[in-house]
Amino acid sequence: MQEIKIFSPLDNSLLGSVKSMSKEEVDKEVGKAKEAFYSWKEMPLSQRADIMYKAADLLVENTKKLADLLMMEVGKDQKSAASEVTRTADFIRFTADTAKSIHGESIQGDTFSGFSKEKIAMVTREPVGVVLAISPFNYPINLAASKIAPALVSGNTVVFKPATTGSLCGIELAKLFMEAGLPEGALTVVTGKGSEIGDYIVTHQDINFINFTGSTEVGLDISGKVHMVPLLMELGGKDAAIVLKDADLEFAAKNIVAGAFSYSGQRCTAVKRILVLEDVADELINYLKIEIEKLTVGNPLNVQADVVPLISEKAADFVWELIEDAKQKGAKLIIGGTREGTLLYPTLFDEVTEDMRIAWEEPFGPVLPILRVKTVDEAVHLANKSEYGLQSSVFTENLTDAFHVAGKLEVGTVHINNKTERGPDHFPFLGVKKSGIGTQGIRYSIEAMTRVKATVINLNR
Ligand code: NAP
Ligand code: G3H
Repeated sequence: MQEIKIFSPLDNSLLGSVKSMSKEEVDKEVGKAKEAFYSWKEMPLSQRADIMYKAADLLVENTKKLADLLMMEVGKDQKSAASEVTRTADFIRFTADTAKSIHGESIQGDTFSGFSKEKIAMVTREPVGVVLAISPFNYPINLAASKIAPALVSGNTVVFKPATTGSLCGIELAKLFMEAGLPEGALTVVTGKGSEIGDYIVTHQDINFINFTGSTEVGLDISGKVHMVPLLMELGGKDAAIVLKDADLEFAAKNIVAGAFSYSGQRCTAVKRILVLEDVADELINYLKIEIEKLTVGNPLNVQADVVPLISEKAADFVWELIEDAKQKGAKLIIGGTREGTLLYPTLFDEVTEDMRIAWEEPFGPVLPILRVKTVDEAVHLANKSEYGLQSSVFTENLTDAFHVAGKLEVGTVHINNKTERGPDHFPFLGVKKSGIGTQGIRYSIEAMTRVKATVINLNR
């Protein structure tokens, strides 16, 4: 049996190992999920929901243990790691509540011309079957559970493929779901590198739905290979914070810095560029610099840090390339631009121009470019020129202007006077263009992983 060793990004210590599964082992796990589907979907919803509530309780009971592992495995600071666990428990509970509140409908025939009220459609929701849940490294508990819980509570069974870095957390999460009372096969775990088993699992004939969160590169690859299987995909982003002339600049700066640099920018929803009206750019930069100077930078093993070592040497090298490219092409370095191994200091560039890679590419690291604009229309144009369309922020004191800009932005969500972010978790969460397919968010995820079924009663026969 082949094993993959998992090392901590914080001190390179060996944390454990997971199986690099063969095709036969993958078949076995998918087979178990397929077999379990028929009995799991027949279990009353209230009982499936009770298992979810129990799983949420178990997560809370194990917060310390999970947060410690999370910190070591993906390098999140202690506070964020613990809040990821409690947020996930809340997510699971709300998912169970929501599933119980979704009712079908009946439609009378005579609402369409030429039909009588004696024809009635009873519309219910059915699970789709075996859901393949593929999660990324950066929220190994939360972004896994936010696929698993809505899928399970709706009567689907789940084959869960965690990110390899994050798979120890994923396995612990799955164990808690099992301990909560899931029957054998309702949730199975497949481990191994996506580059090795990915193609096999995503094209497996017994997978009925794929719920993927990760990079646009891998998302595009999967969507090119999968046929006649519905996809729900949350991918990369290049979220813009648009700052208008009348914005409260101090408030905007606080929000932008928190949004850009927490967990070193390793969040799909991190603020990844600033588009600011030239007249207020200098003042905004002063405030941004003050806020960045307040950030704590370091290793979560030693300090409660906002900016932590990146997940891998490869990730740090990539961000560094973007920094070098910006420097070389004449961007003005305001602060940062230094590195100690995988720890990159929070970096702010002014006078970024469209020929620089940092203007368009997603760094997934602590570097923030400022593009100065002359007009609001130019800001909107640049925001929409990105291949991504996850979220945007607009900072202004004028609500009419905010709605005017929001209406033009090609993104899933616009935050007015706030940083970009996914939560609260019952709001719709989606990306357009290369940022995703379909909508997540508790109710939306349940709806995505169920299909409508109409049973038509003909009283007039
Ligand atoms: P990633 O490299 O795309 O990996 C995501 C998942 O896909 C992992 O489980 C990975 O497994 C698996 N995978 C890799 N190659 C595969 C293949 N050929 N077929 C099937 N699965 C495959 O992303 P990441 O580095 O973990 O996360 C960072 C990226 O995710 C960023 O671009 C970020 O913006 C995006 N993200 C988006 C959201 C959102 O909600 N929009 C949320 C979080 C992250 P291995 O780990 O084994 O390679
Ligand atoms: O990394 C992607 C996550 O969906 C972002 O979630 O905005 O709560 O950090 P967050």
